[in-house]
Amino acid sequence: STPTFEQYLASAVAVAKEVSPMVLENYNNRDKKVEYKGAVDLVTETDKAVEAHIIKRLTEQYPETKIMGEESTKDGVYGWTDEATWIIDPIDGTTNFVHRFPLFCISIALSINKQIVVGCIYSPVLDELFTATKGGGAFLNGQRMSVTSVDSLQQAVVATNVGYDRTPYGIDFMLTNFKSIMSQNVQSLRFSGTAAWEMASVACGRLDCFYEWGIHPWDIAAASIMITEAGGVVVDPSGGPVDMEGRRVLCGGQKIVDIVSKLLIPKQPPTDQQ
Ligand code: IPD
Repeated sequence: STPTFEQYLASAVAVAKEVSPMVLENYNNRDKKVEYKGAVDLVTETDKAVEAHIIKRLTEQYPETKIMGEESTKDGVYGWTDEATWIIDPIDGTTNFVHRFPLFCISIALSINKQIVVGCIYSPVLDELFTATKGGGAFLNGQRMSVTSVDSLQQAVVATNVGYDRTPYGIDFMLTNFKSIMSQNVQSLRFSGTAAWEMASVACGRLDCFYEWGIHPWDIAAASIMITEAGGVVVDPSGGPVDMEGRRVLCGGQKIVDIVSKLLIPKQPPTDQQ
């Protein structure tokens, strides 16, 4: 019989906890072997080993499921289909992990018909487990999560990241958006270096809003179901529906998202499918 969302979630949680000693063991090593996927986009042997282990476990248990994994995806081609698909980021926040900055997490989502139905995010250093299933609510270490109802920038802490674009246009684009938000007296901005954990933090209400250009489906998939189950919205920065493969996202409570959406200038990066 078809597994329930809760069964899929239990398997994702089990494997995230199972790999976390491997992550913690390598975390304290100052001289991790780093490869460069781009000029400033890093990957370590731990990212690869963790992803391989997660894939092995989940496909053993659910042989019919497909995989979209950050480190197993070649040239930005995911071939994402309507079939049940695990969307995996073995370490979201690899740069933090490499530098021994404690914010990073394992992110596992399941999509069916390209809709995210299960999300699991585990931060091994903080021992924070975020979970959600479609229709079943969102939880941080078993406590129900809800987004904030902040309705002005003066009360809002907004997170984003500088990503990997170091072109003059990319830098200018980013600074224009910071300026626009800061000019409206935002309470503060955060750049924590892990989109998944920042979005999970929006779901539990310790951040009010998050946006980023340049992200991939595995950075946002698990956290997106957490935000919607926690009463928030996950949209395109223009305010329209989010495209998981569109390399951009804006999320938070509806009121702050409406405000921030009007302040962000649009940019059209290539999607991963181009
Ligand atoms: C990255 C992190 C980072 C964000 C990048 C992501 P990774 O994920 O979430 O905060 O700025 O867009 O790619 O590469 O560490 O898994």
